[in-house]
Order: sequence, then structure tokens, then C-alpha cells
Amino acid sequence: LENGVARTPPMGWNTWNTFGCNIDETLIKQTADALVSSGMRDLGYQYVVVDDCWFDPNRDQAGNIQANPSRFPGGMKALGDYLHARGLKFGLYQAPLDRTCAQYFGAYPGATGSQGHEVQDARQFAAWGVDYLKYDWCSPTGTIDDQVRTFAKMRDALAATGRPILYSINPNSIHEKTGPRRDWGDVANIWRTTEDITNAWNTGQTNGYPMGIQNIVDVNVPLAGYARPGQFNDPDMMVVGRGGMNDTEMRSHFALWAVMAAPLIAGNDIRNMNSATSTIMKNQNLIAINQDPLGLQAVQVGNDGTRRVLAKRLSNGDVAVALFNQGGTTTTISTTASAVGLNGNSFTLRDAWTNAVTTTTGTISASVPSHGTVVFRVSGGTPAPPATRIQGAGSGRCLD
Ligand code: DGJ
Repeated sequence: LENGVARTPPMGWNTWNTFGCNIDETLIKQTADALVSSGMRDLGYQYVVVDDCWFDPNRDQAGNIQANPSRFPGGMKALGDYLHARGLKFGLYQAPLDRTCAQYFGAYPGATGSQGHEVQDARQFAAWGVDYLKYDWCSPTGTIDDQVRTFAKMRDALAATGRPILYSINPNSIHEKTGPRRDWGDVANIWRTTEDITNAWNTGQTNGYPMGIQNIVDVNVPLAGYARPGQFNDPDMMVVGRGGMNDTEMRSHFALWAVMAAPLIAGNDIRNMNSATSTIMKNQNLIAINQDPLGLQAVQVGNDGTRRVLAKRLSNGDVAVALFNQGGTTTTISTTASAVGLNGNSFTLRDAWTNAVTTTTGTISASVPSHGTVVFRVSGGTPAPPATRIQGAGSGRCLD
């Protein structure tokens, strides 16, 4: 979506994965402070997104949506001010139909969805200083055409406010069969491509709830052609630091989200992070790869069912290469510079995890533990001519 925002994938934090409906303004403020004191804000984690359950169950007499007064006694404008004063941005959740997911499933009372209130709600969000709207389709019914029409209404209402607001949509919540088939770049800045993530490597679900890292990667990788500045596939908020996986798998999760140009939205409790979690999420090599201004998603250039190779072209001509072992034992994964779209006969490889630099005449190879991902930034070559460039999926775009 060409609305001036999300030129690179958004980074930040969202309440849902750890706190669900158990949220209030103290939690948001403490997390904002922790984003600053941990150094994460300065690495790019800017958006603080308040997910479902922030609102009062009833609109006011004029139909305005209001914050839950016991959870957010200071109100949403004051919360936005608190975030802005700390160099952060304010994200808020809402649903397009009559109810949010928590209301739909009865975990939270009332009916406050934006249907019929789009312009009014968009103005309200803008007046509160909202910088990011997550808009969540919470119904198992409806066609893609219904979704496009309904999501576009809020897109237009947000544009009419004149405030740049990043527009994040979820066509897939309890509706997993519609979203991934479509390039949503005409409607939104980011769009969910899968059902909800959980703290697991593999749940066996490829099209239902809940999904593990491996399952999400399987769905999201083929959608690479849809990504570009202003519009990115969203394989869901991260679960780094939430347990359920070993450190190798956590690192793989972050590395794969980085090369897939995914939004890097932390879902853990930032106030209580151990050093392994913080080290993963603060990896500057991977953040730079994710935030590269070319805005491309890695395309898959190799997959034998166990060993997968993903390549993401970067703005300075380098290519980030991810060697991902989805098998159960350590294995060597190899590719070549020409296979990732580079000509030449001398390259340097910088390992994104260890910072070790090696040189090669063309072979790119590493021993990768089970469920691990080694990422190299490959420099020194020249881009291969267009005819031989690697095709992305989806819209058939090339690697660059
Ligand atoms: C479903 C979405 O996929 C989640 O990320 C979260 O926003 C919940 N809805 C909230 O109800």
C-alpha cells in the first residue's frame, strides 16, 4: 500500500502472544520503558501494539469506541502520548465485522467492531495518535471479495484522516483458507498469511490453528513475490522467548523471519527477557537484512525436503543466504554464488550469528544442526543478468 509507511517491515511488540486479554496501561508503559532500556527501540523495535480487549464493551451514545476505563484509566490519547514521548509508535487492534475475535468467542463481552463505524473509528484512532492499526477478520464466514471490500473501507477511512497509519490486516484468523491466495498489497501494508503461531516448532498444521515455525515457513516462503516496500507478508508475531523450542529453533525462527522480510513484532514479555532471547532479537546483522531498503523477501533456491536454501537480494548488491535444516540431524547444506544470483569468482561470507568472515570462489556451505539456520551475507559479486535472476513466487518477480 502506497501510504508512505512500512517502507521496510515494521518492528515492535504486540500484547497478544503473552498476555491475551490480560492487558492494561501499566503493562504497556512498563513494556515501552523496557523497549527503551533494553536498547530494542534503538535497534528499530518501534511499534507498541495493543491487541484485542483494550476497549469498553459498549460504544458511547454517539457510537464512539471507547477504551475500557478500568484497564486504561488514562485513556488512549494519554497512552499514545506516553509512547510518542519515548520515541515509540502506537498500535491498536480492531475488527472489521461486528465483533473482535475475543468478543466473537465470548472471552470478552460486547460488540464493538468497526462495521458501519469505519470513518468514525478511523478519526478516533487518528485523534488518539494511533500509528498502526491491526484489523482482524474474526468470522469463519465470508469470501475473499467480502474481505477485500471490507478491508478496503478501513484503508480508505484511514487515508481520509490524513495521518500516516500503518495498516495491518488479518484475513486468516479462523479463516485460513482465504488469505494466502492473494497479494494484498493494494489493500494493506502487511497481511497475515497463516493462522495463529504457537510456541512450537511443528504442530503438523499447515492450514489451521495453531501453527509452528516450520508450518508457517512452508506457507509463507512461496509468497515471496508479493513483498516490496510498503507491503509485506506477515507470518505472525514472533514467539522468540516464549518457550516450547530450544535455542537453535528460536534462532532459526528469528533468522527465517528476518530473511522472509517479515514484520519483526516481538510477542514475549520484554520486561523479563533472558539473555538468550535478548541476544537473538538484537542481532544487528539479521535486523539489517530484514530492514534492507530494497524490501525483498528471500526466494527459495533449493529444497530437497531437508535442506532448504533461501536468498534475499540486498540494496548494496549483497545477497543474504539462509541455509535451513528442517531435518532431524546435523547436515551440511551447500549452494553456490551463481545459484543465489551472483556472478564473480571471489566472495566474502559473513556469518550473521558468529560474525566470522570467510572467503570463497563460489561455494556457500555450512554444517547446520537439526532445525538450525545459518545465514551468510554474501558480498563481492555482481548481480547476475536479468535473464538468469532468480524468480520470486507469487507475482513472478525476480530476486531484484
Ligand atoms: C486472532 C489474531 O490472529 C491474533 O493475532 C490476535 O489478534 C487475536 N485474534 C485477538 O483476538
